[in-house]
Amino acid sequence: MNFWQKLKQEKNRPLIVLAPMADVTDFAFRAMFAKYGKSDVFWTEFVSADGMVMAPNNNPDERGMTGQNKIFADLKFDESQRPIVAQIFGSRLDNVEKAAQICAELGFDGIDINMGCPDRSIEKQKCGAAMMKNPDLAIEVIRAVKKGIENAEKNGFKKIPVSVKTRLGYNKDELEEWLPKLLAEKLAVITVHARTRKEMSLVPARWERVKRAVEIRNEMQADLPVGERTLIFGNGDVESVSDGLEKCRENGSDGAMVGRGIFGNPWFFKGLEKIDAGESKNLNTEISLQEKLLALIEHAELFEKYIGHKNFAVMKKHFKAYVEGFDGAKELRTKLMEAEKAGDVRETIEVWLKR
Ligand SMILES: Cc1cc2nc3c(=O)[nH]c(=O)nc-3n(C[C@H](O)[C@H](O)[C@H](O)COP(=O)(O)O)c2cc1C
Repeated sequence: MNFWQKLKQEKNRPLIVLAPMADVTDFAFRAMFAKYGKSDVFWTEFVSADGMVMAPNNNPDERGMTGQNKIFADLKFDESQRPIVAQIFGSRLDNVEKAAQICAELGFDGIDINMGCPDRSIEKQKCGAAMMKNPDLAIEVIRAVKKGIENAEKNGFKKIPVSVKTRLGYNKDELEEWLPKLLAEKLAVITVHARTRKEMSLVPARWERVKRAVEIRNEMQADLPVGERTLIFGNGDVESVSDGLEKCRENGSDGAMVGRGIFGNPWFFKGLEKIDAGESKNLNTEISLQEKLLALIEHAELFEKYIGHKNFAVMKKHFKAYVEGFDGAKELRTKLMEAEKAGDVRETIEVWLKR
């Protein structure tokens, strides 16, 4: 049984997970969730398979841990962030295979393949959402990942499950044709972002299509024991843990993935702890303004400590989400935007709190 199935059995409820988001769900932000309210599973930001293979210092001693190498710095995690899945994109099969082997040897619990990213620079590499236009290549990529994992297994590393994150289709909803192709590969999980590539994230997610995805899975994998079926996760517009659970119950999905709903809210997943402790009401956590601002300081300090390979401007993207909805928020934000390092964030907030 793979870790997904074990977790599903252990929790006995839909899984609610933090989405991979480039320049957002990095080591520092994941550390905040690990402390304040843990996602059932973590994902890394997406990383390029080509980049991993061609990266300098690509030897086992230096992979991931030195922080000198940007790609491997993006793949850094610690034990508090498990289970953690590495998300990769790539279309060069030799590199995809090697990258998957490296991920398995780095100790990730699973590998996810990005087949939904609408970014032109990713699509130009035939990756992300472009995979939906080239299903034959997509299938070869899945098989290359599996081969890479087998190579790692031969070197004594554990066999890890493969998942795919995708959309309903490219220009139009092609779920009926696209999903069966993925299901035939017996993936551990397929996350369906319930919008097409064309829709980006500009229209409401169509969760009724997640329901249809579950039906297609049930039809196609009816003969498989439940523990071997592909789990279907829905993604799009989840606003809280209760909302995610509700959407899963309405649509029969095995889990829900949360993207933008978590911005500025490291307590987002705290409701899961409450549910697992037997509480069913008050799943949301009330956070005071002071707690929120102190969390921003902590987040900025973790960013500075662990994300040294990125400009501090990346951290500033979080400011708006933490600092909004109260009198004086705009002024405080304007002041914070002048910060060049975590110490400046601390100083500005401490002065503000003492006013
Ligand atoms: C800033 C940002 C970065 C993202 N980066 C990734 C990524 O690296 N990999 C991925 O599969 N999806 C990525 N996504 C898409 C999200 O994982 C998710 O599918 C999307 O935001 C829809 O979910 P939501 O409506 O809950 O936000 C990104 C989204 C945002 C907003």
